[in-house]
Amino acid sequence: MNFRFNWIWPFTIAGCLIPLLWLVFDIAYDNLGSNPIQALHIRLGDWALRFLCITLAVTPIQTFTKWRGMSDYRQLFGLYAFFYASLHVLGYLLADHYLEWQVIGIDIIESSYIWFGVLAYFIVFLLAMTTSKWAKKRLGKSWKKLHRFIYIAVCAAIIHYFWQLKGNLAEPLFYLLVIFFLLGFRALTWLKNRQPNENTG
Ligand code: HEM
Repeated sequence: MNFRFNWIWPFTIAGCLIPLLWLVFDIAYDNLGSNPIQALHIRLGDWALRFLCITLAVTPIQTFTKWRGMSDYRQLFGLYAFFYASLHVLGYLLADHYLEWQVIGIDIIESSYIWFGVLAYFIVFLLAMTTSKWAKKRLGKSWKKLHRFIYIAVCAAIIHYFWQLKGNLAEPLFYLLVIFFLLGFRALTWLKNRQPNENTG
């Protein structure tokens, strides 16, 4: 990670852990409602998706504020997306299925919404494993291409969300709108940067 220390950094690291502390507190005080396992999935899944959206929001914020140090935060938020997604997956493997791999295999095959969760997690895992300066150097130009897969991850995550939805549409629709704007911003920037090259070429 291209680490540049400033006073906001430790507060951001600590702040990103608040959802986890809040969850641990609710577990300790039996505050997760009548279906605690489902509540656990929802809380961790929601935070994994929120951190994916926050990670995608860094570039537009950087463009508007012209604050170059923002890229350190993009990596940090991306790693937190991976962290919460990993806890979400662990919750599924341990709390839902007690690591019974055969049952897990059957459940994954039968539950189509999980395929998209697995796809999103696979990508987020790859991106987290290649986030270091060392990996960036080794992968060269492919690094940027690989890290663009975050767009596929966030789309897979939102499909995963909609597909398993049992009730309220408002929340996933809100995330869909946010993702639409974030991807729209990237598409417009891409088009804007492409045009001068085409005219000269
Ligand atoms: C980056 C990867 C992932 C993200 C961002 C993600 C996100 C989410 C979100 C937003 C929800 C819905 C929460 C709500 O209702 O408010 C959810 C539910 C769920 N996810 Fe994921 N997920 C991911 C990967 C996975 C994987 C790999 C699995 C399993 C192998 C999984 C299993 C589940 C389960 C079991 C539920 C709950 C369904 C229910 O309410 O019964 N997720 N996830």
